[in-house]
Amino acid sequence: MAHIMGFGGYVPEKVITNEDWANQLDTTDEWITQRTGIKRRRFVAEDETTMTMATNAAETAIKDAGLTSDDIGEIILATDTPEMMTPDTAALVQHQLKCRNIPTYDLGGSGCAGFVQALDVAKSRIATRPKNILVIGVELISRMISLKDRTTSILFGDGAGAVILGPEKARAEVLDVVSGTEGGYAEILTLAAGGTRNPFNAKSLESGDYNRLIMDGRRVFIEAVRRMTEATLEVLERIGRVKEEVALVIPHQANLRIIEAVRNKLGFDEDRFYVNVQEYGNTGSATVPFAMFEAVNNDRIEKGDLVVLTAFGSGFHWAAAAVQF
Ligand code: ACO
Repeated sequence: MAHIMGFGGYVPEKVITNEDWANQLDTTDEWITQRTGIKRRRFVAEDETTMTMATNAAETAIKDAGLTSDDIGEIILATDTPEMMTPDTAALVQHQLKCRNIPTYDLGGSGCAGFVQALDVAKSRIATRPKNILVIGVELISRMISLKDRTTSILFGDGAGAVILGPEKARAEVLDVVSGTEGGYAEILTLAAGGTRNPFNAKSLESGDYNRLIMDGRRVFIEAVRRMTEATLEVLERIGRVKEEVALVIPHQANLRIIEAVRNKLGFDEDRFYVNVQEYGNTGSATVPFAMFEAVNNDRIEKGDLVVLTAFGSGFHWAAAAVQF
């Protein structure tokens, strides 16, 4: 049994509008709105980092759960934009929060599916070692990719979301989680440099690889729709429920057209899909926990609601969770 005890989220204050992009790149508000549904996104201030955003979201979740840092028994942090290569961002957050010397680890490389996968890992950890686990999804994308490339820069924003998962009955039970991977697509959504294959060095600086996001947008689009739809149905089947029983789907917020395509495939009305991509853009592994935090605080979720989280990211990885409030 794994129950969500508290919800947290954080986005930086600085707002970047489509007009801001149109003033510096060969793009328009109309193009961005039509293709992505995004109107605004948030970017970090100079003194903010992945660690500070994650810590902010974590503090909100811990407080929301009525706990203190001493009550946290483990931290799992999903990110593709870590504070540094080593150690993991989770260790830095443990120190910031003044938690005990608990185990912490990052779940990296799953892109936007990272948080839901982390929830899967956390749920199984609780089954064998009952404790309160802080699960975070955080991404600082604006400092990692070229802001001069109009095909990718306009899609993303920075942010963080977090939950506290515990063994005792609480506000919402994570009934089940399904995850999957198809590694054959690794090359069509990846950072050009930064690993052992193509390290950050003078060569990658000169070629422009050092901050280039390689993305085949159309392939990503097709696979994201297919996998998020299938994962939603798969997790419902596993818990023996049908889609008509779902009160709200919280999909990964990559862009509005992907979300709408998933919604149409599932045959859901607009009010049964949570959408905030217009405000924050794609914040990677933070979209799902941040949207859930917002939905809880906006009273979009009521006691008794069955909620499905569904996400897709680089890898390709995908995952869906059924959460009973
Ligand atoms: N402003 C104006 N024109 C642009 C821009 C821009 N910001 N970006 C690209 N274009 C141009 C292209 O250069 C191209 O011009 P051309 O026809 O002269 O060659 C034209 O617009 C059409 O480009 P396409 O890439 O074919 O446009 P498409 O309709 O596929 O939309 C988009 C692109 C929005 C990226 C879409 O493919 C998509 O949403 N894919 C999913 C990608 C995604 O969500 N990635 C996020 C990370 S992964 C995840 O979160 C799941």
